[in-house]
Amino acid sequence: MDTHSRYTVSLHYDRRLYRQDIAGSVAHARMLARQGIIADDEAESLVAGLEGIREEIEAESFPWREELEDVHMNIERRLFETVGDVAGKLHTARSRNDQVATDVRLYVKEVIDEALRAIHELRTAFVEKAASNRDVVMPGYTHVQRAQPVLFAHHMLAYFEMFGRDAERMRQARESADAMPLGSGAMAGVPYPIDREWVARELGFGKVSANSMDAVSDRDFLLDFHSAAATCAIHLSRLAEELVLWSSDEFGFVRLDDMYTTGSSIMPQKRNPDFAEIARGKTGRVYGNLVGLLTTLKGLPLTYNRDMQEDKEGLFDTVDTLIPTLQVAAGMVSTMEVQADRMRNAALNSYALATDVADYLVAKGMPFREAHGIVARLSKYAVESGKRLGELDLDTYRRFSDRFDEDVLSITVDSSIRARDVFGGTAPNRVEAAIEAAKAELEAEGA
Ligand code: ARG
Repeated sequence: MDTHSRYTVSLHYDRRLYRQDIAGSVAHARMLARQGIIADDEAESLVAGLEGIREEIEAESFPWREELEDVHMNIERRLFETVGDVAGKLHTARSRNDQVATDVRLYVKEVIDEALRAIHELRTAFVEKAASNRDVVMPGYTHVQRAQPVLFAHHMLAYFEMFGRDAERMRQARESADAMPLGSGAMAGVPYPIDREWVARELGFGKVSANSMDAVSDRDFLLDFHSAAATCAIHLSRLAEELVLWSSDEFGFVRLDDMYTTGSSIMPQKRNPDFAEIARGKTGRVYGNLVGLLTTLKGLPLTYNRDMQEDKEGLFDTVDTLIPTLQVAAGMVSTMEVQADRMRNAALNSYALATDVADYLVAKGMPFREAHGIVARLSKYAVESGKRLGELDLDTYRRFSDRFDEDVLSITVDSSIRARDVFGGTAPNRVEAAIEAAKAELEAEGA
């Protein structure tokens, strides 16, 4: 085919919708017969023909023809060849406009279910890592500076929450895809006594679209999916970045499984976190696909416009990027080795207890701001004399405030963590409860 004829062709990507297209046609043909619009034996021929075509496609013996432009025309033309002229009755009370909108909605609902399974798997990995490392202590960070000691499990459960919101956004996107456009025809509705509710039930849609003009031109459900995917990609890249940092010699907090690292061709000591880096890098195309569709839809007048054919490649690309990245992330998290000693030492060898020392003064009746100032001076002194807070003696403490007593020396990483005993905090009993709640949530979701 020359460039001119190839310009409008979408077959090379939209053939991926063949299952949804055939399912939609089968339901439509059966409905036409139930409503007396075509004869029962005609519907039977159509359904048998469509099922034969599905088998041909799956056996890779289907004669795809680019010159027929898209998946819909390819299947319809083939139906003429396999069942004869009755094929011409299939498109009664239908248009490619409501047909393609239906196909894409069916597809999106399916891939969202797949994405939800992948998110579930990843969240399970966080909970399992948390549960099998309950006592591991690490410094929590702000500004990539050691801030306060926390349980490693608490850190894992932060990701559990983050990806839980992604699941919620995916479910919302699924909800917006769950209206069936068939029956809208080209855009005004169709002049036949069809039964849209019946077709919707056959295809597993929760409802039928309420306005035919909106139904053939609405791609908001794709924007909802892309935007849920883009937010999920942010989270994957943040996780990937932490794995890159944590697996470096500088941190040494985790050892990624060999499956997820590669050596360097000239530096034999290296174990590069390539999978995490690629996961981080893939974010760009997921954002790009969202922005691409936003831009394609901008300024389109009602109703269907051929521009909308451009909705598919970005969609498939996001699906092919997001789901494998979720799966890789789950694999990296569940196989990583936690270097508990390195984490604990990083928490000990820091000034992460400064807040606790300030809180100590507050407990003795000092206003927090004043306590903060005293501990800032104390920490500065400790840094300058090359000592940790825990290495200072009581006399030194008392040079900064006479409210310090012997018990200030018993502030430790573990007492600091134990003290954060609020709902949502890092105290061991709270994290324990959070692990149980997370397990219950995963259980309720099913596999
Ligand atoms: N390939 C087209 C698409 O994806 C199918 C709908 C074509 N409709 C039309 N009126 N030309 O949008």
